[in-house]
Amino acid sequence: MRVCLRAGWSPRLERLAAPAFFNRSVPQTHVEMDPQPSPSSPASPASPASRGAPGARRATHVPVLLREVLQALELTPGLTVVDGTLGAGGHSLQILQRLGPSGRLISLDRDQGMIDLARPRLAAPNAKLVHASYAQLPEVLARLGIDRVDRILLDLGWCSDQLAAADRGFSFQTDAPLDLRYDTSTATPAWQLLASASEEQLVDWFESFGEDRLARQHARRIVAHRQQHPLQTTFDLVTALTGQPGPWTARGPDSRHPATQVFQALRIAVNRELDHLAQALDGVSDSCLKQHGILAVISFHSLEDRMVKQSFRDPTRWQPLLSKPVSASPAEQRLNPRSRTAQLRAARKISPDLSPLPPPTGLPPVP
Ligand SMILES: C[S@@+](CC[C@H](N)C(=O)[O-])C[C@H]1O[C@@H](n2cnc3c(N)ncnc32)[C@H](O)[C@@H]1O
Repeated sequence: MRVCLRAGWSPRLERLAAPAFFNRSVPQTHVEMDPQPSPSSPASPASPASRGAPGARRATHVPVLLREVLQALELTPGLTVVDGTLGAGGHSLQILQRLGPSGRLISLDRDQGMIDLARPRLAAPNAKLVHASYAQLPEVLARLGIDRVDRILLDLGWCSDQLAAADRGFSFQTDAPLDLRYDTSTATPAWQLLASASEEQLVDWFESFGEDRLARQHARRIVAHRQQHPLQTTFDLVTALTGQPGPWTARGPDSRHPATQVFQALRIAVNRELDHLAQALDGVSDSCLKQHGILAVISFHSLEDRMVKQSFRDPTRWQPLLSKPVSASPAEQRLNPRSRTAQLRAARKISPDLSPLPPPTGLPPVP
């Protein structure tokens, strides 16, 4: 069963790093190179790492389900592993430590600022950080002269460091330009999409990407509001939706800001997140993961999790390694509220011409 969401998306080649440490011949492809991926490489203008001196900011993101991810990936020295969503590098660092000098880590992020932020933690000759979407992994591996990899991890969504950045618009708790792009060098910022989208388009986004029960009402409010005032900042949008700007005080652990679903929908639309995920579950895994390689995905909302679940159900392609998705323990949820909605799924890539693998026996102990 193939995951296919929206036809017509063709991944735009972004900046890919040079294959410096792999020391192998690299096929020629039309990619834009980032020749000096160093701590001094310029961050994107609105990135978390762009304020202050390079390296001055410290990562704050806490990796979710760390122990469970390391177990699911069955890491051993010498493997070649892709972390498709580097973020602040928490998972990448722990993975790297388990690969030994003969293993290789390739970590990707669409946000150049996150790459700059994580780089000091991952300054090892066998770690390569690349500014690209995981949907572009085939091009990235071709550039690095690598055929296929043993493991791929995707930890979807945004990082706490991006949420905390005052200039990205990921949080509706602070007033900021309504950008919402992971890669500020491409695509269209949210404020620009909001200026031109029809009411029907907005309803479609809010329903499809936000599962927003008030999609129509929210779309109407936005259209009415923008006739009077342009919607350029997070608080402009919050005001249009709720009539009230400013920070929100939660009324209990499960109470949600009324704009939560709309922000999620816009972020997914701006970054075409589900298209990238569909691509990773389908063609990218087919072409980049070795047979018997493992794909592990952490998702944070039902849209993503449903896609992963549906893909892993195909018995001709995947053998699920977990009988059900793994959630964070109560202790982790207390310490790291972001982990509350996290769901980890992992599967081994199989192919019909191989002898069947033994049935899953649960997670092995952490090495
Ligand atoms: C949840 S964070 C990852 C956190 C990371 N595992 C850690 O331990 O710090 C998700 C990251 O993925 C990046 N991202 C989102 N979509 C992406 C994509 N299609 N390709 C590459 N990176 C992506 C975001 O910019 C963000 O930095």
